[in-house]
Amino acid sequence: MIPNVLSIAGVDPSGGAGLLADLKTFSALGAYGTGVVVALTAQNTQGVTSVQPVPAAFIAQQLDTLFADVRIDSVKLGMLGTAEVVATVAAALRRHGVRRLVVDPVMVSKSGHHLLSPDAVAALLSQILPLAEIITPNLPEAEVLLACAPIRTLADMRAAARALHALGPCIVVLKGGHLDGAESTDIIDDGTSQFELPATRIATKNTHGTGCTLSAAIAALLPQHANPVDAIRAAKTYLTSAIATSGELDVGSGHGPVHHFHNLWK
Ligand SMILES: Nc1ncnc2c1ncn2[C@@H]1O[C@H](COP(=O)(O)OP(=O)(O)OP(=O)(O)O)[C@@H](O)[C@H]1O
Ligand SMILES: [Mg+2]
Repeated sequence: MIPNVLSIAGVDPSGGAGLLADLKTFSALGAYGTGVVVALTAQNTQGVTSVQPVPAAFIAQQLDTLFADVRIDSVKLGMLGTAEVVATVAAALRRHGVRRLVVDPVMVSKSGHHLLSPDAVAALLSQILPLAEIITPNLPEAEVLLACAPIRTLADMRAAARALHALGPCIVVLKGGHLDGAESTDIIDDGTSQFELPATRIATKNTHGTGCTLSAAIAALLPQHANPVDAIRAAKTYLTSAIATSGELDVGSGHGPVHHFHNLWK
């Protein structure tokens, strides 16, 4: 059965991150993509110049209307923006009994634009993380969620991943893109075991939306694998190939997008 996957996220008109990137990822990985828009951004590969939030009541209406008709097999959460939106989305997820939830706790864009207000972090911790099957923070996001010192080494990452698991999700994928060095290794923690997702760091500036793409790939693949860790491993493999082939695209002069359809376009 082809899974129906939902992204709840913001729109990046350059198509490299956010809802548009999520839909490309779903499509590349054999899932039917649906999307609920939480915010519009004015953005290109160089940065975000403005954010226009969608009213919370209308986000709830988009979700309720969609769920009233469409079976949703997994959900990915991206940029949420404000505490009010976090609370609205959390209530809707509970209302519709969403169980397969991948949370990418987006806080700051690659270009440095803040995408989550401080009071929204508290709402995310109390209302969203306990509902999550999987969370995919990067290192700065993990430091905010844990209110901890900078995470600099693989050993720091292992300790942080275990601490993040205690915040409620079933599985933590702590992303190592912000680590220094030749590797961009992620850590998976399911509360009892830890697994490394090793990857050689690819020398490219085309890393716009890598985090969005990874979390969307996990959401697309979760319903297609019996074991969530297998879905995460397959998602990481897909992302690494999409980064490696990003040079085939020519999109903007800043941080360019990854090649979502590298397996399909010959
Ligand atoms: N240069 C690279 N080469 C290989 N893998 C990378 C590279 N940069 C990031 N990754 C991988 O991409 C994924 C996203 O990592 P990162 O830590 O950059 O997330 P992020 O900061 O949330 O990204 P975004 O800015 O898109 O939100 C991780 O799996 C990470 O290991
Ligand atoms: Mg991110």
